[in-house]
Amino acid sequence: MTRDHSSDPEPKSLSRRSFLKGAGGAAASGVFVGELATGAKPVEPTRCLSSEETLEGDVEVTFHLNGESIAVTVEPRTTLLSAMRDRIGHTAAKSVCEQGNCGACTVLLDDEPVYSCLTLAVKADGREVRTAGGLAEGGELSPVQAAMVDRDGMMCGFCTPGLVMSVTACLEKNPRADEAEVRQACSGNLCRCGTYPHVFQAALDAGRKMVASSNSGSGSAGGGR
Ligand code: FES
Ligand code: FES
Repeated sequence: MTRDHSSDPEPKSLSRRSFLKGAGGAAASGVFVGELATGAKPVEPTRCLSSEETLEGDVEVTFHLNGESIAVTVEPRTTLLSAMRDRIGHTAAKSVCEQGNCGACTVLLDDEPVYSCLTLAVKADGREVRTAGGLAEGGELSPVQAAMVDRDGMMCGFCTPGLVMSVTACLEKNPRADEAEVRQACSGNLCRCGTYPHVFQAALDAGRKMVASSNSGSGSAGGGR
């Protein structure tokens, strides 16, 4: 069943000016698309509009959000973060800088970490979006989430959902990732409270747990999928 938000009115709080200003600010700061080695990054557009072409009118986008089919009508400029938070009311991905600087908005788009504040909602059409709000299964936290709690990997918590998704993506690819790989995976996520050592320890714990679970046949090494 598809949850239909296509007839909900779109709030106008995000202006084209603020979106362009944000993207420009990120580029100017040197932390933009290709600058992050393996951390979350915005999705490259598949097609560039020529100077004569414009996208006009609203577009309907359908994607799977944590396994649930969602239909929503958005302006072409609407970011995935805005579509989730402002249109659907799904607030697991945090809105902090909205400039591609902090990683708090990190989600997995077809298993790849991306900044949802720099990813257009139309890019999610027909794809699978996962957030920290969808990792728990049957009331049980995912290995990464549980390890973050055990290792005291959060203070204010603003960065936490993004870090959880970056670590989850890393360990789903390689649950035996070492600390250097974990650090690299988190390179696009800023924590102003300085919880990094706890986060890295949590990631290593979670990886060990996923490997043990996989070896015992009692679960997948997929990290809460
Ligand atoms: S809110 Fe998207 S990178 Fe900061
Ligand atoms: S826990 Fe506060 S920003 Fe990371």
